[in-house]
Amino acid sequence: MWLPCGCTSKYVASSFARRTLASYLHVSGRSRCNVAAFMPEAAGLEGVSGRAALRELSVSNSESFWAAVARHRLCWSTPFHTVQDCDLSRGKIKWFEGGKLNVSVNCLDRHVHTCPERVALIWERDERGSEMKYTYGELLEMTCRLGNLLRRHGVKRGDCVTIYMPTCPLAVASMLACARIGAAHNVVFAGFSADALAERIRDAQSSTVITVNQGVRGGKVTELKKTVDTAMQSCPTVKQVFVAMRTDNPVTMTARDIAMEEEMLKEDVVCEPAVMNSEDVLFLLYTSGSTGKPKGLVHTQAGYLLYAALTHRYVFSYHDGDVFGCVADIGWITGHSYVVYGPLANGATTVLFESTPIYPDPGRYWDMVERLKINQFYGAPTAIRLLLKYGDQWVNKYDRSTLKTLGSVGEPINTEAWEWYHRVVGDGRCPVVDTWWQTETGGICIAPRPSDPDAEIVPGMAMRPFFGINPVLMDTEGEVLTSNNTSGALCMAQPWPGMARTIHNNHQRFIDTYFQPYPGYFFTGDGAYRSEEGYYQITGRLDDVINVSGHRIGTAEIEDVVNQCPAVAESAVVGYTHSIKGQGVYAFVVLKKGIDVQEADLSRQLNGMVSEKIAKYASPDFIQFAKRLPKTRSGKIMRRVLRKVVESDLEGLGDLSTLDDPAAVQEIIQDINISA
Ligand code: WT7
Repeated sequence: MWLPCGCTSKYVASSFARRTLASYLHVSGRSRCNVAAFMPEAAGLEGVSGRAALRELSVSNSESFWAAVARHRLCWSTPFHTVQDCDLSRGKIKWFEGGKLNVSVNCLDRHVHTCPERVALIWERDERGSEMKYTYGELLEMTCRLGNLLRRHGVKRGDCVTIYMPTCPLAVASMLACARIGAAHNVVFAGFSADALAERIRDAQSSTVITVNQGVRGGKVTELKKTVDTAMQSCPTVKQVFVAMRTDNPVTMTARDIAMEEEMLKEDVVCEPAVMNSEDVLFLLYTSGSTGKPKGLVHTQAGYLLYAALTHRYVFSYHDGDVFGCVADIGWITGHSYVVYGPLANGATTVLFESTPIYPDPGRYWDMVERLKINQFYGAPTAIRLLLKYGDQWVNKYDRSTLKTLGSVGEPINTEAWEWYHRVVGDGRCPVVDTWWQTETGGICIAPRPSDPDAEIVPGMAMRPFFGINPVLMDTEGEVLTSNNTSGALCMAQPWPGMARTIHNNHQRFIDTYFQPYPGYFFTGDGAYRSEEGYYQITGRLDDVINVSGHRIGTAEIEDVVNQCPAVAESAVVGYTHSIKGQGVYAFVVLKKGIDVQEADLSRQLNGMVSEKIAKYASPDFIQFAKRLPKTRSGKIMRRVLRKVVESDLEGLGDLSTLDDPAAVQEIIQDINISA
């Protein structure tokens, strides 16, 4: 039945040098291509004469566009009868209803059928030079054994399995095994603390967890199984924990624990795929919001996979046989869409990067590019900024001639980092694609689209909406800004297949967060600038979410932990500009009356608490003890003012007349800890 089948606003655009992609690629003259050759998925669409027209049609007649690509790109066991059924005002999003398919079949079986020996995964282990390759045939076998094992242990269609593992082949096989048997996965980044893990397991109502004995990253061993054990103390509903062995060191096994590899060996290598509906849940992924606890965004089967696959192919100019190197951790959406689902759906060879950019030295990435012959490299600005400081020699040592496209994701890329990435890493030869998207969007929404060889790229700008994406900017009154050379709140006027469908167990929060601020539109939470030419540049979050080394964190979550300290009366956390991390965490803390403590000791304690309750990256870089915080007369902390203070933007403080006592601001300014 299954086979075969078919930055910030400071960086204004006008000051940037302009280059055209044609000059990078030496392919000018191919501009008037025929659509079928460029995008075979769209070959059946009538009356489309070029890429610009195709992009037009993908928005004006998005149903025809998405129907054509969904038929071409995915392998269905039953065709869909309805392309879309969406109503953004109610947060209702459904794509390809009636269609049935299995995501693991789309990512594995169909490639095994045509080329079983093609390498699916290259595991770039922490230990340099010890990479391991897995063919599509091998990955399918691992996935099937695991799928059978999970089934034998009672995991059913619709259950949710939490995966707490570093980026490794068994983690990918675990995700795909869930997809194979119709269970949802909930990958929790292995850098999260026991408390953060437990909270996500409870919210997801997972009764099964998959982990490893220990993790290895940057030469350091982390005790992941022990962290799971700690989390289990507050997760009574977990029945079983599968433990894979990343190192040779044994760990204490309890009655709940199952030795994963040993048990996998007993399983059959054939595992019947579950027949899934397009809108069944594929995974939950928790991310931070501006208020409240992290939310479990829900992505479903067909639309998500299609969008990940299409963006992977066209944003990065991926071609069959290319080696795709996205260095993100599978614990984030980038890892889901561009390490696992997008590349595997396209039959690519995808790299699993387990290490850090500077281990054992700052040449790690480029040594890897040479060794694995990587064609597309996709990383975060924070790492680029860090490596830039170590100097060009670490890049120049290695042969990077295989590189064709360089991608950037997670936060704005400043011009200096962009230029260095382009000039040094890419030898001035490879287009740099700054890709804007979010956990909520499922895949890249705004990017330069290098598949169009004539496309101009402006450094530091995300540039153009992808096929089917219809961005709009809103003013403070909630009106659409129609002119160019303007800034506003970035919203999407149309649904697309990759977008999240709901927040697990809280559809109302989904509506309130994304659809209620601008009724009829999806609100991203980001601000953007649209240039005279109509290009987009992301200017940063409009809410209390900050971005530390590409990791998203709500300031309220950090305040919550700080406020749990018995000595603390109240606190306010804001982000400030950090030269490597993009943003750092700055906490203002007011102690309870009569508390007599050494500030340094308390700072250490608070840092420890945040690392323990959330993760290390959320720990404040600066803690300033203040007598009081600037508040409005109604008692609301003025975070806007605090943000300006830590940015040393005293002129931008704005109207302080609504403050209860303006002197509070002066006190804080005097004691500020950083020269930002
Ligand atoms: C937030 C989403 C997208 C996968 C990784 C992060 C910021 C993301 C860019 C970019 C400027 C960016 C936004 C967005 N962001 N990419 N190219 N330029 N800002 O996913 O954890 O869901 O975070 O990251 O603020 O809202 P995420």
